[in-house]
Amino acid sequence: MTASTRTRNTKLLAWVEEIALKCKPERIHWCDGSQEEYDRLCNEMVEAGTFIRLNEAKRRNSFLCRSDPGDVARVEDSTYICSKTREEAGPTNNWMDPAQMKAKLDGLFEGCMRGRTLYVVPFSMGPLGSDIAHIGVQLSDSPYVAVNMRLMTRMGQKVLDVLGDGDFVPCLHSVGAPLEAGQADVAWPCNAESKYIVHFPEEHSIVSYGSGYGGNALLGKKCFALRIASSMGREQGWLAEHMLILGVESPTGEKTYVGAAFPSACGKTNFAMLVPPAEFEGWTVRTIGDDIAWIKPQPDGTLRAINPEAGFFGVAPGTSVKSNPNALKTLDHNVIFTNVALTDDGDVWWEGLTDTPPEHLIDWQGKDWTPGSGRLAAHPNSRFTAPAAQCPSIDPAWEDPAGVPISAFIFGGRLSKTFPLVFEAYNWREGVYWAATMGSEATAAAVGQAAIRRDPFAMLPFCGYNMADYWNHWLSMESKVENLPRIYRVNWFRKDENGKFVWPGFGDNMRVLKWIVDRVRGRATEVAESPFGYSPRYQDLNWSGLSFGQEKFSKIMDIDRKEAEAEARDQEELFNRFGSRLPAEIEQQRLALLKRLEQSPDVWRIG
Ligand code: OXD
Ligand code: MN
Repeated sequence: MTASTRTRNTKLLAWVEEIALKCKPERIHWCDGSQEEYDRLCNEMVEAGTFIRLNEAKRRNSFLCRSDPGDVARVEDSTYICSKTREEAGPTNNWMDPAQMKAKLDGLFEGCMRGRTLYVVPFSMGPLGSDIAHIGVQLSDSPYVAVNMRLMTRMGQKVLDVLGDGDFVPCLHSVGAPLEAGQADVAWPCNAESKYIVHFPEEHSIVSYGSGYGGNALLGKKCFALRIASSMGREQGWLAEHMLILGVESPTGEKTYVGAAFPSACGKTNFAMLVPPAEFEGWTVRTIGDDIAWIKPQPDGTLRAINPEAGFFGVAPGTSVKSNPNALKTLDHNVIFTNVALTDDGDVWWEGLTDTPPEHLIDWQGKDWTPGSGRLAAHPNSRFTAPAAQCPSIDPAWEDPAGVPISAFIFGGRLSKTFPLVFEAYNWREGVYWAATMGSEATAAAVGQAAIRRDPFAMLPFCGYNMADYWNHWLSMESKVENLPRIYRVNWFRKDENGKFVWPGFGDNMRVLKWIVDRVRGRATEVAESPFGYSPRYQDLNWSGLSFGQEKFSKIMDIDRKEAEAEARDQEELFNRFGSRLPAEIEQQRLALLKRLEQSPDVWRIG
């Protein structure tokens, strides 16, 4: 079919023509999003040596792909927010003047698709036609991107039909590896010298060059659904967040939805697909999304959220029957694995999948591997791409165009001390402050101490504008949304004096989740008041099936005054980076905490 029978969208037709002229691809393919097209592209990649078809009996219609060893993760150092001024991007983003960046990209894109196919990939972030959804079109010279986008988004002709002559977010992508006449291709083309992941927030457009991997290349995800969408959300009065969304269903059928933000690699996918302990009979957790939430204020005074994605692009290592049985079932068929290991019987393996590794594997770099080889078999950032619809815990409302009502926000990081298992912020502003100061521990090699690497709202690498303005945007919800969700901080990672995790985590996180549900439903009204916020007492959590005494509970709920004061002081460094743009309310919360700590005993303990 010709381009003009696919769409009459004049902006899109002109843009595809302009890019084709510049990038000089050998051919152009408009993706229709059909199964036939997906199968054909996958087969072509098998023939080209990019994909390995896995054993049909073990992993139906699934493939393994190995990337170039130099192209294995998001490249934060090469990710730019090119707003008009540096101040708009803020101190936590790389910035370059938009005109200067465009000149640079212009040079790089000249002829960059020679010898390749330009795929036109129309996609919707969010259920097609939902008021909360938005449409993008990615132009890419990577068939890997085209097939992954079919799993991760609603993709193809149906999107063009809904788009009509409307506006879309243009997302231009090239692996930056043109083929000269007669030059043989490689399995994973990319550009070793230059990688640029660039956002123009005022224009709502994205340009990505040089990488074929994950968030660098699947532009609907971090680039659009977080960086550009966070900017759109500020302009239009909504929120684009690095959050999973889950629904807790009680034995009586009551459904409570929460959004939860954790820094990358803190088990978001596991939490989104949590299986409650057997003793929680009748309670289920349903998944709406595992990574991103778009949340919009409604006329009825609530916030409703959608998962803008249609698939999971999850980290494979650590995923097991114990940590996430629902994820493993999701991965049964129709999956693209990237950089995991290949078993001798044509299946996949990664560290943590089984306690005992197979005796022989082909590792993520295509080399022979045995348990004694001293190398990881799967890359630590190896991934699976799988359709969300295949997840056994997927919520019946996951594609509801109206979204689901959010009753609570949960924020957490990986912290071995100071922070309790859970507390509820005293009010919205304090909740925003607690989310703004979250982070995970990073061992500062120079001093050999655990320091908190701040990751406000888990959005540090994903906020498309000045983080201080983003906090302001969150604060402004107080006057715009009548029924604001409550805000919680959790910490599954507190350690004891022997350096051991105290809290079992995984399914047992249900105990905390249930307390949160009881709070927002107005049931758990009796609480303790700590210097940080409202805290559950020992008897407020359901302990059935777990031997976890009051003393252990204390170990993960106590607040050491000196540690807490040091934490509050340390936050000043983060705040100072924003100068006069820092919202005064945020600093006020910090000072109020210091005041409360002054009145607090050396160790605050639930009475
Ligand atoms: C992700 C991330 O890949 O947050 O989701 O890094
Ligand atoms: Mn993420």
